[in-house]
Amino acid sequence: MTDSPPNPVAAPFGKTQDGTEVQLYTLTNAHGLQVSITNYGGTITSLLVPDKAGKPGEIVLGFDNVSGYQSPEFRKAGPYFGALIGRYGNRIAKGKFTLDGKEYTLAQNNGENTLHGGKKGFDKVLWQAEPGTSAEGQTLKLSYLSKDGEEGYPGNLTVTVVYTLTADDALKIDYSATTDKATPVNLTNHAYFNLGGGKDVLGHEVTLAADRYNVVDAGLIPTGELRPVQGTPFDFTSPHTIGERIAQVPGGYDHNWVLNSATGQPAATVYEPTTGRTMEVTTTEPGLQFYTGNFLDGTLKGASGQTYGKHAGFCLETQHFPDSPNQPKFPSTILKPGQTLHSTTIYKFGVRQ
Ligand code: GLA
Repeated sequence: MTDSPPNPVAAPFGKTQDGTEVQLYTLTNAHGLQVSITNYGGTITSLLVPDKAGKPGEIVLGFDNVSGYQSPEFRKAGPYFGALIGRYGNRIAKGKFTLDGKEYTLAQNNGENTLHGGKKGFDKVLWQAEPGTSAEGQTLKLSYLSKDGEEGYPGNLTVTVVYTLTADDALKIDYSATTDKATPVNLTNHAYFNLGGGKDVLGHEVTLAADRYNVVDAGLIPTGELRPVQGTPFDFTSPHTIGERIAQVPGGYDHNWVLNSATGQPAATVYEPTTGRTMEVTTTEPGLQFYTGNFLDGTLKGASGQTYGKHAGFCLETQHFPDSPNQPKFPSTILKPGQTLHSTTIYKFGVRQ
């Protein structure tokens, strides 16, 4: 006899524009948490988490059919709801970098820069999916081969991402990758959280274990300066609501914080006072892009008809720093043949009464 949970349930999630059927895998645990992930883009479409009264509710932005992720409005807005991001999460300046003396030119999709992998990043491809269970809980293993030259990147990159919904109420994401040519890699997930279910996230309290952040230019490319957060609206070393100082940050938060390593603290802690929900993020990554849904403008509507307006959700994208391939002083994002990239991020949920 075994008391391990059954495998995640698979259900049809509609057809892509080229007619391919897509699946939705739903992972559950014994405490009422439930996460749904589609093999299109490895996208988290729904995450139900109990509030302080024990009532599960939706805490991510998403759609109930793959068509939502392929609509003209979604493509135009490009918010990357819940998706796996690669080959390089965040921006590479001018879509160019030099590696081992050779210059590579990438697909440019964010002005002159490359953002989140290029025109067809990992968020827009079909992943091979394998539902299962581990000692920790239900799992979904997703695999993708990014071919040599895809979006301009060198090397055949084999990527595996394992989502686990754990018995202790965490969504764990394990990333691994190997390559046959040196290439930059920076993998993340682009979930937009809203722990309260309200129209915006400005009342959420956020703490970030980061004493410095990456200063960026007008195109959101790092200047190379890692500036202390102290005395600025970027100081979340003690809890602050998202809304408290956001007006002092032109455009809103869309920056990469330099995580304090070896503090043992979570990289981020979020608390939503009306529902009591909490989220703690821990990661092996050195950086955290905290983005407050500044570009959402109400043109997209969610699964139950709610309008996704400005600041309807926030992202905590664990990653290396933006534009690392062009910034020799930043932690390296270059994966070489013979090496295996491993990266783990855990989003742990709870409530405060
Ligand atoms: C990241 C970027 C933002 C924006 C969003 C998607 O968070 O840093 O500038 O592109 O993705 O809209």
